[in-house]
Amino acid sequence: MTDILISGSGLYTPPHSISNEELVQTFNQYVDLYNSQHSDEIASGTLAALEYSSNEFIVKASGIKSRFVVDKEGILDPQRMRPNIPERADEELCLLGEIGVAAAEQALERARRKAQEIDLVIVACSNLQRAYPAIAIEIQHHLGCSGYGYDMNVACSSATFGIGAAADAIRSGTARCALVINPEITSAHLNFRDRDSHFIFGDVATAVVVEAEAGCRSDSAFRILGTQFKTEFSNNIRNNFGFLNNCHAETRDSNDKLFRQNGRKVFKELLPLVSSVIHDHLQQMQLEASDIKRYWLHQANLTMNLFAAKKLLGRDPDDQELPIVLDRFANTSSAGSIIAFHLYSDDLSSGDKGLLSSFGAGYSVGSVILEKC
Ligand code: COA
Repeated sequence: MTDILISGSGLYTPPHSISNEELVQTFNQYVDLYNSQHSDEIASGTLAALEYSSNEFIVKASGIKSRFVVDKEGILDPQRMRPNIPERADEELCLLGEIGVAAAEQALERARRKAQEIDLVIVACSNLQRAYPAIAIEIQHHLGCSGYGYDMNVACSSATFGIGAAADAIRSGTARCALVINPEITSAHLNFRDRDSHFIFGDVATAVVVEAEAGCRSDSAFRILGTQFKTEFSNNIRNNFGFLNNCHAETRDSNDKLFRQNGRKVFKELLPLVSSVIHDHLQQMQLEASDIKRYWLHQANLTMNLFAAKKLLGRDPDDQELPIVLDRFANTSSAGSIIAFHLYSDDLSSGDKGLLSSFGAGYSVGSVILEKC
């Protein structure tokens, strides 16, 4: 059977970073505004006053200290609290396309591939900015790739599911060299007025090149030893945004058209699923958890990652085994595990094994076991 490799990766980091302190300051200004505007109802007991957010809570509950965003000003304006992202003309490259291209170009360079050699483009992410034409086809056109492209969405697990789809296409002969791109403008689907979640996400784009081993030119490639995927329906992470919203004017702009979650339940239900998928995958591949030199896990919550790694290893992981990027990037949805892979894989030696894992809404879990070539 043809061996399939990840031959290069790329990362686009937006120009602006927002610290917890800045985000909390805006949130608390909004709380003051809201409470003073509704002071009568609050005083009469018909409305609950909003409570302040705090940097201490955010760091303790999530491990997040800052996040990158495409627009800082709009998010930090207490009267607005959403990024300012002007619409573009149809003739211009769209925003997801633009950041996806930036990450893809880096991945191509690392893989020593030209765009013309790509014959499959998959855009795999949580939030696609339009229904059609596919962002992937726009990127295919912009870069000058051949073959075909399509968009897919498995929420936070999109990247690993996309890598699996690309590997399957190459194995079956429908493609030779694929780009899997994860552009995430999470700041546009986050409710910055929601105390429980206003700190969770950040913007970024990642990309990987997936190709057959024969003919690979990269000197930093990883062989895909195996993939495993699992989904189980849950409403605990949900976003009701979609084209049907337009047909119900009364609720078109309500908060359920943005990200919402029951964080505690997600923690309780998703962690056992993640642990069991990875455990079964390792067993199937006749590997011990300790055979894995690096765990590039989805970056949503520090405690969650430490817990998952400890459960697998039977001890606390060290920093080398479990790189963390969520402290400065926050949760970047599908891109999180790929950021960790991109930033923390160059030091591995030939034969070293690593495990990429994503998890999130759906529920969905993806596991990809890699070996440095
Ligand atoms: N500032 C200060 N306090 C806050 C707060 C904020 N921004 N948000 C919530 N709190 C308070 C709550 O009101 C609650 O107070 P109480 O104990 O008096 O009721 C307390 O802090 C604990 O809230 P809780 O929501 O239970 O916190 P948590 O420890 O579960 O942490 C998350 C919240 C979201 C960070 C955590 O649940 C999480 O990361 N879950 C998994 C998320 C995940 O992986 N999602 C996948 C998305 S892709």
